[in-house]
Amino acid sequence: MIEIQNKNTAIDYEIVREKIIASGLKTVGKASIRELVRLVNEIESATGKKYVRMEMGVPGLTPPEVGTNAEIEALKMGVAAKYPMIDGVAHLKDEIALFVKNFLNIEVSREGCIPTVGSMQGGFAAFLMASKLDKKKDTVLFIDPGFPVQKQQLDVLDLKYETFDVYKYRGEALKDKLESYVAKGNISTILYSNPNNPSWICFTDTELKIIADIANKYDIIVVEDLAYFAMDFRKDYSKPGQAPYQPTVANYTDNWLMLISSSKSFSYAGQRVGMMVISNHLFKRQYSTLEEKFGKAEYGYNMIYKVLYALSSGVTHSAQYGLAAMLKAVNNGSYDFVAEIKEYGERAQIMKQLFTNNGFSIVYDKDEDQPLADGFYFTFSYKDMSGIELLERLIYYGISAISLAITGSERIEGLRACVSQTQRSQFEDLEQRLRLFNQHHS
Ligand SMILES: Cc1ncc(COP(=O)(O)O)c(C=O)c1O
Repeated sequence: MIEIQNKNTAIDYEIVREKIIASGLKTVGKASIRELVRLVNEIESATGKKYVRMEMGVPGLTPPEVGTNAEIEALKMGVAAKYPMIDGVAHLKDEIALFVKNFLNIEVSREGCIPTVGSMQGGFAAFLMASKLDKKKDTVLFIDPGFPVQKQQLDVLDLKYETFDVYKYRGEALKDKLESYVAKGNISTILYSNPNNPSWICFTDTELKIIADIANKYDIIVVEDLAYFAMDFRKDYSKPGQAPYQPTVANYTDNWLMLISSSKSFSYAGQRVGMMVISNHLFKRQYSTLEEKFGKAEYGYNMIYKVLYALSSGVTHSAQYGLAAMLKAVNNGSYDFVAEIKEYGERAQIMKQLFTNNGFSIVYDKDEDQPLADGFYFTFSYKDMSGIELLERLIYYGISAISLAITGSERIEGLRACVSQTQRSQFEDLEQRLRLFNQHHS
């Protein structure tokens, strides 16, 4: 445990210490997100003090009424009694295809638009399929930093992965770095999130084209994880059918599968309904390995009727109606989903300023030559303190976050902050706590 010199901390020193010991965590700074949630819950209830909670990426906004009302109506219609079609209810498939056209400017057939139990299930299914296509290609490559649970999924599946931190390989430098991994011929899939959890970097079109060229050259499937769809607020991606569009690798390759989550962009995390969108090319692609195993060769058919069938036999019926209603409203322009979630960007801008005013630095701070967007997450460090030490010390000051070390980042000095649970009414507390921390560590 870390020795705290000045015990006059923002939260009662003795109680925090006692709770850390009771948690059984050897190193608080290395704890998983859920372990930190538990520890902070314990301290909050023992001290009665509210933390500035930045450890977990949960939406902090209310879900759109158009979604919840459609779900209620669907339940009243009796959909709960019926098994949903595995490939999704018909009108949802239509709305997903229209959404992809309206907000990404990409044409995709409705058959490749499939609801999943969150993007989490979509990723799991994509990994599972990838492992069955070509025996030589047995490894997933993550462009990190990334979402730790995706690696956990590969561990659960007993599949291999490689990873590198993109921090030093932005722009043209990405090409040689990617080549150095894929040239071995063992990579089936490249996965990244854009905007990125945890760093909030957004790939430029130069970088997306580099990824696409590599995918074409080495016949790799790009899984583009759009968990934070349209949340790069530097550009206005809110108008259906109008540029600018959410950037995507699909502009440069046909080897893609997208995961579009409703959790953050539509504040719909609790309903566990996301979208898997498979390119027309990949959907129709024939694999002899699939034919041997399942009797049919087509990628899309096997994704739906073998993998997704085996995993959950479709997605909660009413949740599909809710998602379809929200998509219909954004597609016809009657609901501006981006206007709702812009609040995250505004909070991030203020919170980043509070940190930098008090001796902290932003770790991932640029997209090539452009300053990073303000959004759901930001990364920070304090002088030359390691992230592990910083995280534990901040707990004594009523601030929680997670270490970048658990996200595949090499920036071990850094922590990730999620802005969604910090209300504006807490900014004053945050400022005071950061100031006190800085005074105690200067
Ligand atoms: C990068 C990334 N991918 C996927 C997910 C999972 O999304 P869902 O809630 O749709 O399963 C998250 C959730 O935090 C995420 O950050």
